[in-house]
Amino acid sequence: MKPVKVGICGLGTVGGGTFNVLKRNAEEIARRAGRGIEVAQIATRQPNPKCDTGSISITDDVFAVANNPEIDIIVELIGGYTLALELVLKAIENGKHVVTANKALIAVHGNEIFARAREQGVIVAFEASVAGGIPVIKAIREGLAANRINWLAGIINGTGNFILTEMREKGRAFEDVLKEAQALGYAEADPTFDVEGIDAAHKLTILASIAFGIPLQFDKAYTEGISRLTTADVNYAEALGYRIKHLGVARRTDAGIELRVHPTLIPADRLIANVNGVMNAVMVNGDAVGSTLYYGAGAGMEPTASAVVADLVDVARALTTDPNNRVPHLAFQPDSLSAHPILPVTACESAYYLRIQAKDHPGVLAQVATILSERGINIESIMQKEAEVHDGLVPVILVTHRVVEQRIDEAISALETLDDVVDKVVRIRVEQLN
Ligand code: HSE
Repeated sequence: MKPVKVGICGLGTVGGGTFNVLKRNAEEIARRAGRGIEVAQIATRQPNPKCDTGSISITDDVFAVANNPEIDIIVELIGGYTLALELVLKAIENGKHVVTANKALIAVHGNEIFARAREQGVIVAFEASVAGGIPVIKAIREGLAANRINWLAGIINGTGNFILTEMREKGRAFEDVLKEAQALGYAEADPTFDVEGIDAAHKLTILASIAFGIPLQFDKAYTEGISRLTTADVNYAEALGYRIKHLGVARRTDAGIELRVHPTLIPADRLIANVNGVMNAVMVNGDAVGSTLYYGAGAGMEPTASAVVADLVDVARALTTDPNNRVPHLAFQPDSLSAHPILPVTACESAYYLRIQAKDHPGVLAQVATILSERGINIESIMQKEAEVHDGLVPVILVTHRVVEQRIDEAISALETLDDVVDKVVRIRVEQLN
């Protein structure tokens, strides 16, 4: 059979990795796909010294690739929303299939892209957009198709996890670790996307859609970053038996779907609490299967290329199939997507870690307990440290049972009005994940 012709747009970290894996494993890939997968053209602004492109046609114009009649599949690895969207829509209009690693593009414009792709009968595959080399989209979309998914929770930003791990294990400074992540090619072009949770929210939006069969709704995801975490809280969490991870959580409730990214205390003995460095992990809980865990490299040249190439193999196999009988882009048939709403964060439910900086006076603890109990907030554990020598303040640290966020917000406001409470109350969500 004739080889499938691919055009790679973007020859940076992931593009370079994709090119090299396709070349190195060409024979093995052809044995799987049933035909060769051949790079026919590459669009790049500059050559990648790690890639021996030989006589392959190179252009700096991505639309030259999208309009090349020889090409069957466009691999979009340029990132961003504007040019990438134009490129993908042009490729679809030209009847080409698309493979992309672009989570921002899918999370923000996926509904429109998939609608156009359906009209043209083409595939848009995006495994590499979430958790790098971990085939978690395929696992949820196909492997767990029997289940009603209850919740999923993941460490889905390698840069953030790398930073938290280095800070905790080696006491390194935030900025220093971030620079290393950038040099290693893990971080986004704008690293605030990593540390403020935007990148994770893009990925969570995608996971929630395929888990619950809802349209992509990135604009409704709640996002809180790790840049304000202090070593004090990391250490108090450890003392209470928890690790702090930057978690994306999507949970189905009767009222709606929780979609939130934030620093989270997880019991230290959970497997996911021990996922370190640039590694990612996603837990998915289904009604039939129970809890499952997917682990692997969430970023980097060849791990992400692994997912891109797997998508290419899938598309190559599906080229001759009836478009109506293919795996739907968002796992559920497009006319069966649910309108179950995304909940505002104030309606989400979680347990909470609170750190209250209090003056060392009698009765402070009683006042704190009263404020919480008046709002129906049950305290699970409490720890009071000795007063700091320099300011005489006592950190009161407590973990609550699960409660709706609005009640914790109200309690924090009341706590902050107490004369004996100084500074803002630190609040970090807690998930047991059991
Ligand atoms: N910046 C992302 C991360 C790259 O650190 O996980 C992979 O999506």
